Amino acid sequence: MTRKFFVGGNWKMNGDKESIDGIIAFLNQSAACGDVDVVVAPPTIYITYVKERLRAGIEVAAQNSYKVAKGAFTGEISPAMLKDLGLKWVILGHSERRHVFGEKDDLIADKAVHAIESGLDVIYCIGEKLEEREAGQTKEVNFRQLQAIVDKNLDWNHVVIAYEPVWAIGTGKTASPEQAQEVHGWIREYLREKVSDKVSNETRIIYGGSVTAENAAELAKKPDIDGFLVGGASLKPDFVKIICARS
Ligand code: G3H
Repeated sequence: MTRKFFVGGNWKMNGDKESIDGIIAFLNQSAACGDVDVVVAPPTIYITYVKERLRAGIEVAAQNSYKVAKGAFTGEISPAMLKDLGLKWVILGHSERRHVFGEKDDLIADKAVHAIESGLDVIYCIGEKLEEREAGQTKEVNFRQLQAIVDKNLDWNHVVIAYEPVWAIGTGKTASPEQAQEVHGWIREYLREKVSDKVSNETRIIYGGSVTAENAAELAKKPDIDGFLVGGASLKPDFVKIICARS
């Protein structure tokens, strides 16, 4: 089964117009390399600025969206608004949303359902904390986070799963290719058991957590690693090397 390689750049709460101009410049100047989906997620306030300047072939994602289309929800944005701006993707359930802002599985799953029903594709993030890994709960935590959307019976053609062990995010402690592959393999088998062979075979499972130009190629060789969700390194020209990691 060949799944199209997928590389997302999550800029988190970083950037201003000047630094974003620099990122757009290296992205627009990058040569195409193979069959890869490239999606960048700027801070919400810069989405239009980025979208108007990026070359065709690089999509823009939002870093979050709410579970309804409109209403009295100060500070939130809806999938309908993202669609209105011409966006195709949203990141949901990122570990910072889960652990800094306290988002729970139920809310994240409701957001995923609503985003997909509204016409967006979802990068659905899961991952265990260090203490959970050390307590032998890696499988249990990731399966619980996954089950929240399995329960929703959603259209899996519109989902990319990002496995991001929390202990690897922004720490420089990348999961080894073997550690990442082990969990990606578990996730794929879980999808086979709980959803279908088709969804298991076709759903892209990408890795996030201190991915760099140096470690991306080895990770990309693993059979169940279908790409990356990149934080810090997506702000630098090396991001282009990560995009090309499988080429
Ligand atoms: O969404 C991206 C992940 O949080 C990874 O961030 O590459 O800075 O570790 P990082």
